[in-house]
Amino acid sequence: MDSGQASLFRDSLQETSIGGWHVSGFYGNGKSAVVLPAVRGIEEGAIKVFHPELIERYGKEAQLQRIRRESSLVGASHPHLVRILDGGECAVTGHLYVVMERIPQRNLHQALADIPMDAVPKLMAQVASAARFLEDRGLAHRDIKPENIAVSDDFSHATLLDLGVLRPIGFSDLTDVSQRSFIGTLRYSSPEFLLRQEEDTIEGWRAVTFYQLGAVLHDLLMKRPLFHEYGEPFAGLVEAVKSVNPVVQADDARCVNLARRCLIKNPATRRQLVTWSDFSALDAPIDATAPATRDRIRERQKVLRASAEHAAQMSAYGEINVRGELQDVCNRLESRIATLMNDLACFPVRQVRSVKDVAQRRCTTFVSFERDVELGLHDKLCVLLDVELVDANNGSPIYRASSSAVLADREVEASDFAATAPFFSGDLPALLDDIALEEQFTGALDAAYLAEEQGRLPASGTVLRLTEGKA
Ligand SMILES: Nc1ncnc2c1ncn2[C@@H]1O[C@H](COP(=O)(O)OP(=O)(O)O)[C@@H](O)[C@H]1O
Ligand SMILES: [Mg+2]
Repeated sequence: MDSGQASLFRDSLQETSIGGWHVSGFYGNGKSAVVLPAVRGIEEGAIKVFHPELIERYGKEAQLQRIRRESSLVGASHPHLVRILDGGECAVTGHLYVVMERIPQRNLHQALADIPMDAVPKLMAQVASAARFLEDRGLAHRDIKPENIAVSDDFSHATLLDLGVLRPIGFSDLTDVSQRSFIGTLRYSSPEFLLRQEEDTIEGWRAVTFYQLGAVLHDLLMKRPLFHEYGEPFAGLVEAVKSVNPVVQADDARCVNLARRCLIKNPATRRQLVTWSDFSALDAPIDATAPATRDRIRERQKVLRASAEHAAQMSAYGEINVRGELQDVCNRLESRIATLMNDLACFPVRQVRSVKDVAQRRCTTFVSFERDVELGLHDKLCVLLDVELVDANNGSPIYRASSSAVLADREVEASDFAATAPFFSGDLPALLDDIALEEQFTGALDAAYLAEEQGRLPASGTVLRLTEGKA
């Protein structure tokens, strides 16, 4: 339905009655329907009336089934999900409709240019909480995008709208499988959703949801629609969804890294590297009170922005050269560690060396600190960083990093280290920029002092417990 059709349809519905709801006014329209203010007795609502052409094209039964699904949410209540009041087929006019609570606000697409950056993390956490609410009820939204999210005028509150293509998870024989041309929106489809290869499981749909949330986050950070440069021809947009890595850069490193992970092409990798708590954590304040920390963060962000451009250039090269990539990781990690040690200025002399394992797609960097009695370090401390290339991601490789530390009175070997949960996942610029990288070292030194104070150093060396990240 184009805007001409939408306004004709909207006008034809003024002052009529649909399913007992009296229609007057106009809120907005999408591809499938118009949304208008409506009243039934003293009850107020927003009625969404589906365009008859759509019903003709895709079949009334399929559309009615969608409306029944949407109506199954009558009575469900979540602060960031539009409430559904009523829905069905009007016995008099034959129109198919859904009635919702009124949300007379702009959608994120309309408000994009005005949304301040500091409102973004909270809005994103809210939208994700609504998507999770649906998942907990065995439903996938499938069409999360800026047009389908309302935002309050003060940018403090988001509401997820348009439950029109809601789908119960795990019913792959559903009628709309054959009508996928209509479902969702190409621009905000994940590659597997576009190719109809999504897995019909909670995890499979969650990967689609994470991608779409990442796309919304991209738009909020970049202030423009995902793949905006690929409008026409249609095939160009299809190709972009399948293989172009969008550039995401902004001051908020946490949001940038999350958006990049969400937009990873491979759904299995995406699922590994994104969790619901990544979104809820966006709403938690970052502890950056000390001016020095703030300065360091700004410094890092400068590096990040420069590196993001590098990553964008890289994506042009298609399949990557693993050896070259790992070499790059080692080089840049080593020089990052050198500047880090300089900045921290509390570590004894160190030695840094790296080994690559191309077959396993990983590299390991050992950073060892000499004993320094004056500094209170009576033994050798060695920190190991293990970086694994988890996805080539069309030339913007994605890594996962974990660390381990050993305190010993002799030379340590690789076998001394214990495996730990990863503290980071994302691309190389983000790893080099991440505060968690620094924390691996300060955490190790802190743990080393603690172990020495307790004075129980076994001959075999002590594997230090580092705080494990949640990446
Ligand atoms: N409950 C509501 N209250 C007020 N306006 C709404 C409401 N729901 C949707 N709208 C507006 O109408 C537009 C189209 O609604 P939507 O449900 O997305 O239709 P479509 O399925 O055609 O995309 C939205 O972008 C929004 O601006
Ligand atoms: Mg819509």
